[in-house]
Amino acid sequence: MPELSAFKIIAIDGGAATGKSSTSRGLSEKLNLMHVDTGAHYRSLTYALIQAGASADNNSNILKYLEALSLSTQIDGRSARLGINSVVPADAELRSPKVNAHVSKFAAIETVRHKLFDYQRSLAELARKQNFSGLIMEGRDIGSVIFPDADHRFFLHADETTRAARRASEGQTDSILKRDQMDTTRKTAPLVCPEGATQIDTAPLTLEEVINKIADIISS
Ligand code: DC
Repeated sequence: MPELSAFKIIAIDGGAATGKSSTSRGLSEKLNLMHVDTGAHYRSLTYALIQAGASADNNSNILKYLEALSLSTQIDGRSARLGINSVVPADAELRSPKVNAHVSKFAAIETVRHKLFDYQRSLAELARKQNFSGLIMEGRDIGSVIFPDADHRFFLHADETTRAARRASEGQTDSILKRDQMDTTRKTAPLVCPEGATQIDTAPLTLEEVINKIADIISS
């Protein structure tokens, strides 16, 4: 396994189905990085809030619902997963059509984002304590808001047809463009390509090529 010269924080941002998760997971294995999928954080909160009866359309009492949810971390191989009230929701729950349909609405609420802000930043310390060579965190606002001083910031993109084909091959129903539209136009921490980030078009590349390209930049 290639060695990094020092502990590094790597931010991977991009729209839905641009290859963030597969790329981040591959890099975490290749470079011994702790992997954090912050999309799963918003999905977990969305799932828990829906279960509790909260609505993203009437968010006046959302704080009351959020206060009842405690956050914890479960390390699973090289992935750090978010536990809500000590339970890590199953992937099938996080990627259900209901969560797909509501997650962008909940993620646009400022109090929902604030619930995760310090928690997400604290994961760098956890990765150090767990003796990982670094932290790789993927999402929409990692290089812009959570870790603007990350050692490396990448922004992945791909054309619409490629992205739809990827979701279809995963057997998922997901309104990618609708979510992207909501994620880029919201007021708080919108999806943007952070200034100075390295942009990568993942459509013409294989997963291995994307991983190698980023690994070369990080290790050089
Ligand atoms: O990466 P994903 O498609 O699983 O993310 C689900 C939703 O979570 C996405 O539509 C927007 C939101 N999200 C966000 O607002 N900020 C992040 N850092 C990660 C995800």
